[in-house]
Amino acid sequence: MEYNLAPSILSADFTHLGDDILAVKNCGARILHFDVMDGWFVPSISFGIPVLNSIRPLTDMFYDVHLMVQDAERYIDDFADAGADGITVHAEACTHLDRVLDEIHAKGLKSGVALNPATSLSVLDYVYEKTDMILLMTVNPGFGGQKLVPAVLDKISKLRAILNERGLSTPIEVDGGIHNETIDSVIQAGANVIVAGSAVFKGDIASNYRALTAHFPEAAEDGEHE
Ligand code: DX5
Ligand code: ZN
Repeated sequence: MEYNLAPSILSADFTHLGDDILAVKNCGARILHFDVMDGWFVPSISFGIPVLNSIRPLTDMFYDVHLMVQDAERYIDDFADAGADGITVHAEACTHLDRVLDEIHAKGLKSGVALNPATSLSVLDYVYEKTDMILLMTVNPGFGGQKLVPAVLDKISKLRAILNERGLSTPIEVDGGIHNETIDSVIQAGANVIVAGSAVFKGDIASNYRALTAHFPEAAEDGEHE
């Protein structure tokens, strides 16, 4: 199974956003996590199209857009045109989830479904085949730097078991409260795309990145740090 650390620019230094993005790219990051918050589905407002437009030419990293946006179907075209490679929508925020996933695919992008900590896995029952990545929120979304919600660990394990039963290798992404003390628990539970904002961008980015990816199983096997 491939493991990826997906730095969330929510915690980057926006006076040097390009430098911070290139710093994680130079560490070997293949995915950049882009947390869009609308102040309605979640309490905070973060950033959107103009920022995505401006950072798109910077790197060829996979731009993993996480729409914490009510009725996200309104914005699929805009984020696709601005340079998203994948768009993840919240099941709780979409009346017609099946149709939104089709719309994301119609734009040639990877699709994702995000679930808040309290949302049951059953909402995925009829969309597994249309979902390229599943994001299990490990915090209640809206802010960086929160504490991981422990109940989600069991949910990650249950989801990995369901995917295995269905013969699916769908990546499980986790987001929120992931740092050196919590990353092992989410990896052992079955997550393989790890979003981290404050644990990457607060302090020395390169050493933060190396410390986190040293927890990846292949790093442990090879004894190398990515
Ligand atoms: C939702 C956001 C945050 C962010 C990660 O609140 O999606 O979870 O990406 O925040 P950290 O890694 O700082 O907890
Ligand atoms: Zn996110």
